[in-house]
Amino acid sequence: MTLAAIIPAFAHRGVTSRPHPAADLLARRYGADSPLDAEALGPDQWNEVLTGLLSHKSVRAYRDAPLPEGTLETLVAAAQSAPTSSNLQAWSVVAVTDPARKARFATWAQNQAHIEQAPLFLVWLADLSRLDGLAKATVGDAAGLDYLETLIVAITDATMAAQNAVVAAESLGLGTVYIGAIRNETEAVAAELRLPPKVLPLFGLCVGYADPARPAAVKPRLPQSVVLHHERYVATGVEAATAAYDAQVRDFYAQQGIDAPAWSQTVSARVRGPAALSGRHRLRQILVDFGFPLL
Ligand SMILES: Cc1cc2nc3c(=O)[nH]c(=O)nc-3n(C[C@H](O)[C@H](O)[C@H](O)COP(=O)(O)O)c2cc1C
Repeated sequence: MTLAAIIPAFAHRGVTSRPHPAADLLARRYGADSPLDAEALGPDQWNEVLTGLLSHKSVRAYRDAPLPEGTLETLVAAAQSAPTSSNLQAWSVVAVTDPARKARFATWAQNQAHIEQAPLFLVWLADLSRLDGLAKATVGDAAGLDYLETLIVAITDATMAAQNAVVAAESLGLGTVYIGAIRNETEAVAAELRLPPKVLPLFGLCVGYADPARPAAVKPRLPQSVVLHHERYVATGVEAATAAYDAQVRDFYAQQGIDAPAWSQTVSARVRGPAALSGRHRLRQILVDFGFPLL
């Protein structure tokens, strides 16, 4: 569909139609298997927010450039604007900028150099400690915090907050990458940040300006046919979709000069057994030690 057809006013001005911004983004995400006809999307079906969301890519190479004043506070305001279960606000974040401290985090996360390169490293926490003190002082008991349910609430809250910060950072032209590998050394991270009981470090987040010499690319995702179910869960076509996605991911890495194993191999290896969890198989006991009895 032409721009003139979408916005009739343009027909009189001789405006020639350009490809819809969604077309390229959907092609990068889904290859030939796009779930949408981008050219058919009208102005009420696409906007800059969607362009930003579909442009997401994790950035693992940063310029040596500081963030503008107030950026951290803007990101945290975006994070605090996320929904939060029962308005409990059961999360916190630690902003790390000290080079020596970032270097320690890089070591704990299997030497991920981008942690040291990025000017800001945010550590997102599931935080039941505030609520613990508040409830004990207010109603004399906080036994509800001992249940797995409440930890899930805190993890969900923290994750939504963090992702809001990611979207905000990307809208400001910044790059980010989550660092789940800090959980390989959860006790060391907690000691470094002096976390009180009932606070669990979930993941880090590098924030900075992407190095244009080592650009990141939009990574393909599984076809919608396997993740989107209508009315009821139907697990058909997964094998064929996986094979097609393996080929797409192989092409994605080949374009970057990387001879990567098939996606299905990589993700299967990641969940094959406790050895592949890089120390995180101990997390249940660590949680208990940190004051989460998981009842
Ligand atoms: C909770 C979480 C933890 C992650 N941990 C790491 C990490 O430790 N190191 C890393 O390089 N990427 C990490 N990632 C980034 C993923 O690898 C990345 O999101 C995924 O490969 C999809 O790529 P994309 O973000 O560029 O679309 C993490 C992502 C999430 C959501």
